[in-house]
Amino acid sequence: MNEAPVITLDGPSATGKGTVAGLVAQRLGFHRLDSGALYRALALAARQRGIDLEDGAALAALSARLAARFEANGQTWLDGEDASLAIRTPEAGQWASRIATLAEVREALLPRQRAFRCAPGLVAEGRDMGTVVFPDAECKIFLDASAAVRAERRWRQLLEKGLDARLPDLLQDLQSRDSRDMQRGIAPLRPARQAIRIDTSHLPVESVVEKVLERAMQVIDVGLGNSACD
Ligand code: DC
Repeated sequence: MNEAPVITLDGPSATGKGTVAGLVAQRLGFHRLDSGALYRALALAARQRGIDLEDGAALAALSARLAARFEANGQTWLDGEDASLAIRTPEAGQWASRIATLAEVREALLPRQRAFRCAPGLVAEGRDMGTVVFPDAECKIFLDASAAVRAERRWRQLLEKGLDARLPDLLQDLQSRDSRDMQRGIAPLRPARQAIRIDTSHLPVESVVEKVLERAMQVIDVGLGNSACD
């Protein structure tokens, strides 16, 4: 059976992965996986239930029974409640980054992430999409940008959502999260060996999308994947 093709987009926070992934998926008619939303949803659900964010076994057990639904428009439902805004706060990002250091959590979330691989294809964004979750992906991209540009992007995103934020706090938040994500022992944030690197600091989103599509067209036989999802 041919596996559906995968485009992986990895990189630190606020490099534009989400926006680019959404647009690339739309242009190709592919499915989309926002793996960060999965970590955020699990971390938020754990906090709501009073589960210790260091307790890998309890978090893995929670992930097995977590009723989380992710819609194409970015809406996230947790146990039937709209958690779209709650998972996007800087605190939820820090909780996600903390539980993401635990081997049990990463292991438990693997099948959930791989289940998104369906025909006609998948655009998967996160930190370890090209290195661990989809090592056989045909097209691997690593997005980067300067910390100052990323903090400002995140600031604008939060303001648009009506969430309060201070730019210096966001910069510190991004830097502490990136350093934890890069230094953890398991599945650290780093480019896959075959990844094409794109610095998005001074590129408009459309140009980044075009670069990703150009690469995807070179290496993917769009329409070949025939694995179906339920
Ligand atoms: O992409 P994001 O900012 O929503 O991700 C939140 C945190 O989740 C991030 O700081 C680290 C973790 N994460 C991860 O470890 N691996 C992924 N594939 C995606 C996210």
